[in-house]
Amino acid sequence: MTREHWGSRAGFVMAAAGSAVGLGNIWKFPYVTGDNGGGAFLLVYLGLVFLFGVSLVMAELVIGRTAQRDPIGAFRKLAGGAWPLVGMLGVFTGFVILSFYSVVAGWTMAYVGYMASGALATTDADVLGQAFTAFIGEGVRPVVYAAVFMVLTALVVVGGIGRGIERAAKLLMPLLFILLIVLVVRSVTLPGAMEGVRFYLTPDFSRLDAEAWGAAIGQAFFSLSLGMGALITYGSYMSRQQALPSSALSIVALDTTVALLAGLMILPAVFAFGFDPGEGAGLAFVTLPAVFASMPAGTVFGVMFFVLLTVAALTSSVSLLEVVVTYLVDEWSLSRRVATLAAASVCFLAGVPSALSQGAVGGLVFADASFLDWMTRLTDLLLPLGGLFIALFVGWVMGPAAVAAATDDGRAPLPLARVWLWILRVVAPAGIGFILINTLLS
Ligand code: PFF
Repeated sequence: MTREHWGSRAGFVMAAAGSAVGLGNIWKFPYVTGDNGGGAFLLVYLGLVFLFGVSLVMAELVIGRTAQRDPIGAFRKLAGGAWPLVGMLGVFTGFVILSFYSVVAGWTMAYVGYMASGALATTDADVLGQAFTAFIGEGVRPVVYAAVFMVLTALVVVGGIGRGIERAAKLLMPLLFILLIVLVVRSVTLPGAMEGVRFYLTPDFSRLDAEAWGAAIGQAFFSLSLGMGALITYGSYMSRQQALPSSALSIVALDTTVALLAGLMILPAVFAFGFDPGEGAGLAFVTLPAVFASMPAGTVFGVMFFVLLTVAALTSSVSLLEVVVTYLVDEWSLSRRVATLAAASVCFLAGVPSALSQGAVGGLVFADASFLDWMTRLTDLLLPLGGLFIALFVGWVMGPAAVAAATDDGRAPLPLARVWLWILRVVAPAGIGFILINTLLS
């Protein structure tokens, strides 16, 4: 059977950017930045994205396109030995992420209804905070919404590569982008917003501890969908004709732009309305309604925003589920339908503790952090760890062959290719390893 391929280069870039742009940019990035002191964290984040992110995005795509297989099969085909374990780590990480991702996406879907109801049409920080806490602390609805989101994800995945993912991504991503810009303009022109802009853009290096570095690298990998084979999987559906380096750059640039805009949408409003930038995982959900309440036709914008955010989450969750499904299809010869049903069901069940850890079940809070928080922390470790091995693999095992594969015809400007190879061989593994060890020891 010939493997299905992306319809076009633009289609691939949009789908990969669709995977990258999601809750990580709009929900996670602003609160993690707020939690870690703002400007200095932002600088470290950007540094890591451009030093490691671009090279690693290319590395994953090279593995996928060369092997034309799922992450585990790719490592087996290209090298064998213990390397397929890296693919297993990736599939496992995908499971962990999707389990809590669907919970937060469920909150997003619930907020469509909340915005429409007018119940959140206030700029009162206390009211908005309580509304959010009350909802996520419920025992039933958050679980039901997570289930609905998982079903949507599964439906797209069953549709296959070309029809399902590509079409959704192409249509709705640009719309979200425009809305984001409108909201940034509203947010930075609020009275008192400048304090937030300053917090976001002026580095305070005293806030940069080991924990902040760990959060930054975790966030960089999470946001770029890096370190677990999502891009290996997407790369495996690429044909030889598609240019890799420019595709990788476009994906990283798009993802980072959206994260930067999301920060500029949320953090100024946080200060304008008197929220706490260290609020944690609820930051976007409590702040955004206040922004909508302070603009004309806020209800309409609010509904639109949470619908589009749900779609952005969907184009990301699809790539998470796709990793597991491609693996089951390629390695276990399951049909796409059965593989999707099995993976989505197990993932949903694994997400239930995250959904219930926000107040419904007190026993799901450990050392002051909810089960969901622990899952995000675990992800912040697993993704960079996967990335470390992927870098070593492409740098040392594939080596110069990877350069040829990245550029089709070896026409790469050679000095750049050499820089890329040495980033993968030494700089990225050492840097990632150092940060991870420091985080674990702190
Ligand atoms: N990059 C996605 C986001 O920022 O929301 C999350 C994600 C998707 C992480 C796919 C990892 C992945 F493989």
